[in-house]
Amino acid sequence: LDDLLSEEAVNDPVRYYGRLRDVSPVVWNARWSGWVVTGYDEVIGGYKNHEQLSSDRFTGPFAESLRTQASTYEQLLTFLSAFFVWKDQPYHTHIRTLVNKAFTPRAVEALRPRVRELVRQLADPLEGRDDVDFFAEFAFQLPVIVIAEFLGVPPEAREDVKVWSEDLGAVIFVNGDDDERHRRGEEAMRNLVDLLRPIVRARRTDPRDDLLSGMVQAEERGDFLSEDEVIANAVLMVFAGHETTMNLIANGIVAFDRFPEQWQRLHDNPDLARTTVEEVLRYDGPIKAMARFAKQPLVIGDQKIGTNDRVLLAMYAANHDPKQFGNPEEFDIARMPNRHAGFGYGIHMCLGAPLARLEASEAFTYLTERYSRIEVRTPELRYNPNMVSRSLKRLHVAPHAR
Ligand code: HEM
Repeated sequence: LDDLLSEEAVNDPVRYYGRLRDVSPVVWNARWSGWVVTGYDEVIGGYKNHEQLSSDRFTGPFAESLRTQASTYEQLLTFLSAFFVWKDQPYHTHIRTLVNKAFTPRAVEALRPRVRELVRQLADPLEGRDDVDFFAEFAFQLPVIVIAEFLGVPPEAREDVKVWSEDLGAVIFVNGDDDERHRRGEEAMRNLVDLLRPIVRARRTDPRDDLLSGMVQAEERGDFLSEDEVIANAVLMVFAGHETTMNLIANGIVAFDRFPEQWQRLHDNPDLARTTVEEVLRYDGPIKAMARFAKQPLVIGDQKIGTNDRVLLAMYAANHDPKQFGNPEEFDIARMPNRHAGFGYGIHMCLGAPLARLEASEAFTYLTERYSRIEVRTPELRYNPNMVSRSLKRLHVAPHAR
């Protein structure tokens, strides 16, 4: 039970987390050397408690190995540690407020026609094919195009951005020391920074009505510490904006394949698109857990957490807690209420949530309209072995036209 990367934990997290929750909603994990929180109330409580539970993994013992090798992994350490997702209040709120201006409901809604057009362009050519690589042809393409256009990244850089983001993800999502992984992460960070720096600089002389221009202007006013900090948070957007959304769409397709009547239900009631997306986030959300670090002694559930202890808030487990959700293993696209924790909770709750919701709802709506079924063809679904993201290694499908 201690192995968070066991075959069961990676490929059947419902069962694995369920067994952990049966022991206790908050358990010490000797192997990871930290607490794993699996109860809904306890996970939400952990997210709310940002005073005592820090998001900062760079000043505590966590990044020790990276810091001691700071000259080798200079870019990785500099830029990764500037991501505002790892910051605590009040600085976190300061930066989040600046970036959030780009994610107002109106700004995101304005992207809908373009997202709709992209969904059609990607979905139509799948017709009549019986072996579509769903990531390569759809699930990866949509979010990466959207976020790249949003930030002004040139289209020809998209494939590279994918590889670099994956390499960065391997550092962020997987704990432990591994030189090769850190080395690739360093290279990926250097490449992403080199890609974004000229784009950021161009916004100084030629500002547009977009996120990067807003961030550059904020820096010029002194609201960001430096150009590097602007670039770091642009890297965060690129990174956070596509892998998660890609997995949300793919995990949704798998859920529908298991519950084909829900596919027809969405087709017959396209108004359910909004609750559909929430149910995919709950039933098989792309982020399984986020880590926190205790700044002082505290209590979660009935466990005493010590200073500097690591705490894994397993929202995937929370989202299947029968104390919170009736029939948690049923995929019900009209589920209401559905207070899932798939985007986290509290002050760090996903900033890109409106964008992710928009992309996924447009994708599911059009795919159900166009296809009577998207049949999963990959015989045995396997997931990437990490503690944070719920991501399939591959997903091949056969879309059946209506
Ligand atoms: C934060 C999940 C899509 C940008 C988060 C957090 C979660 C999450 C769980 C909280 C992290 C924490 O508490 O430590 C997801 C999921 C997505 C998604 C499941 C897709 C389905 C996006 C997109 C963007 C984005 C499309 C950007 C365009 C961010 C940013 C943060 C964040 C900037 C940091 C917020 C903060 O610390 O205040 N996301 N995300 N995410 N997400 Fe997302």
